[in-house]
Amino acid sequence: MKICIIGTGYVGLSAGVSLAHIGHEVVCIDSNAEKINNLKRGIIPIFEPKMADLINANKDKISFSTNLSEVTEDFDVYYIAVGTPTIDNKVDTSQVIKTAQEIVENIKKYTVIINKSTVPIGFNKELKKSLQNKTNIEFDIVSNPEFLKQGSAIDDFLNPERIVIGSSSKKAIELVEKIYAPIIKEKNQLIITDENSAELSKYACNSFLALKISYMNEIAKLCEKTGADIENIKKVMASDSRIGAKFLNAGLGFGGSCFPKDTKAIVSIAKENNAELKTIESTIQINSAQIDYFIQKILAFYNNDIKNKTFALWGIAFKPNTNDTREAPSLKLIEKLKLLGANIIAYDSKAKTELIEQKANIEDTIQNANALIIATEWDEFKNFDLKKLTKLKDRVIFDGRNIYINKNLKEYDLKYICIGKNEQ
Ligand code: UGA
Repeated sequence: MKICIIGTGYVGLSAGVSLAHIGHEVVCIDSNAEKINNLKRGIIPIFEPKMADLINANKDKISFSTNLSEVTEDFDVYYIAVGTPTIDNKVDTSQVIKTAQEIVENIKKYTVIINKSTVPIGFNKELKKSLQNKTNIEFDIVSNPEFLKQGSAIDDFLNPERIVIGSSSKKAIELVEKIYAPIIKEKNQLIITDENSAELSKYACNSFLALKISYMNEIAKLCEKTGADIENIKKVMASDSRIGAKFLNAGLGFGGSCFPKDTKAIVSIAKENNAELKTIESTIQINSAQIDYFIQKILAFYNNDIKNKTFALWGIAFKPNTNDTREAPSLKLIEKLKLLGANIIAYDSKAKTELIEQKANIEDTIQNANALIIATEWDEFKNFDLKKLTKLKDRVIFDGRNIYINKNLKEYDLKYICIGKNEQ
């Protein structure tokens, strides 16, 4: 099928590359000329495993452009994958509206517009109504929320646990099913719903996952008060299939471009509809206090004075396997530690920040450091030779991701302070 994708962020680019990989002819459009020029030359704007290889392998099926009007093909389907930021607790859908309008003004035959951008409930139906007077040609707008995760975006797209198609048009649903046919292994992977349910399901999933994380962070605090160990609790909870084994990691809290934005959005959507989401309001509150909670641990160790102490900080990205730093817990940590007068020397093999000095080599961070802080659970940190950490002047590790929680650091005469287990 001939597919045009507008927006080359994580979602748009991952979808574009994956759809080309399963045999479709794809044109990716983004108004950012620098990004498009780079993509044309094979330079990928983000670090995402498998992305570069897949673009390379499907060069003949994927092309890039900055403007819809420059593209002359007659597409069967348009995808919208542009940003919907939450501004002042409100979802800004202006980019989706603008894009949909441009598409509708361009179509020459029956067209399906698939909206992957996360939008408030009822938005896609309203959008269709508002655009109907812009063309005489029939079109449908389908809500098709995306569930891929950064760091495993391509694998997630090509092996989805489910594909949600929100539409009331039989014709549109059949066409969308055809697009995804190569990656559908079982019939129940496809969930066909009305538009509003599809839209709300996206917010409901992200908020529930965020809720799990805040819940674990609260249980972790209780572990510390009662002498229990969060890792043991996690093991017990994970073995219950009703709870599920994933997203049970206590730590510095959730960041990234999705959970912080979507939890705020769903709370405001609920308010606008005279409903309440107390669980998600608490989820947000717990998450925003998590960095201070961690800093209190550092301050407690140093009798409330970390002025001129030097910390090696491992991990800038909001999670491993990405170079994305949006809403990264590390950045909030850096800002607060700097205000307290600490020096920070950071390392992350992929993510960069201008807030502090960064070393290209992990070992250079610990040469003159008093202590180590771990903010992202990269494998490189998990596999680090612990003996080398004895160079830390104060022989202490503050682990915001619990990566060494099961290691015996006493063996190296190192103190270990993490989340959800008392100091060892
Ligand atoms: C999230 C969802 O997982 C995807 O399904 C969704 O498609 C995406 O948002 C989106 O809406 O576009 P993503 O933000 O890429 O994906 O990353 P996650 O793996 O969900 O992690 C989010 C944050 O939660 C990270 O900061 C991570 O460190 C934190 N986290 C995750 C924990 O603190 N504990 C956990 O157990 C898991």
